[in-house]
Amino acid sequence: MNYLIISGNPKRDGLCYSVSEEARRGALDGGAEVEVLTLEKLDRCHVCGNGWGTCREEHTCVFGDDGFNAAQGKVWKADAFCFITPVYWGEMAESLKCFFDRLRRCEFGQSRAFSGKPVLLVASPGGTGNGMLTCLEQMDRFSRHTGAIIFDYIGINRWNSDYKRRAVYEAVKAMATGREAGKTI
Ligand SMILES: Cc1cc2nc3c(=O)[nH]c(=O)nc-3n(C[C@H](O)[C@H](O)[C@H](O)COP(=O)(O)O)c2cc1C
Repeated sequence: MNYLIISGNPKRDGLCYSVSEEARRGALDGGAEVEVLTLEKLDRCHVCGNGWGTCREEHTCVFGDDGFNAAQGKVWKADAFCFITPVYWGEMAESLKCFFDRLRRCEFGQSRAFSGKPVLLVASPGGTGNGMLTCLEQMDRFSRHTGAIIFDYIGINRWNSDYKRRAVYEAVKAMATGREAGKTI
């Protein structure tokens, strides 16, 4: 199985990074091939034409040479996902939101990237801890628009990170070994 961690985190240390490393370890221990996809270098959606560009008919972005095409290809190839983001302003990080904005348009009428595939949603608020639910809700909406099967939701902050990090590890490992959402264990 190809497991893809799609991360909105720009940092290579700190809470969110440690959680994403835990997800990577869970996927490896579950026997998956795993990659972490980061998105800071990608551009935003240019909202072509009157609201739709080539994304609607051709399912690709006309500005895709910025790295979007390569990232889209990685998503197509993957079998299961973890979306992980620091909480910024009660939402997902801008890099992840911009990528999802473009990908959602390309997926319209095609359902190739996420449809029927399991996804674990992880939000990590670091300051007040506020905004965890609104961030998870935003990722929930994207997942539903693209037909992903939501495996679980995990909110992780400064004062629960010990046991929630373990939860992320176990959830990803369970997904990597083929556990399906909706099946009683
Ligand atoms: C622009 C910005 C907005 C943020 N907004 C929130 C927020 O709404 N709620 C919160 O608890 N933390 C907020 N934070 C803190 C991050 O969520 C926190 O840095 C990250 O999730 C986890 O910590 P880490 O940086 O050690 O990975 C914000 C940070 C930045 C840079």
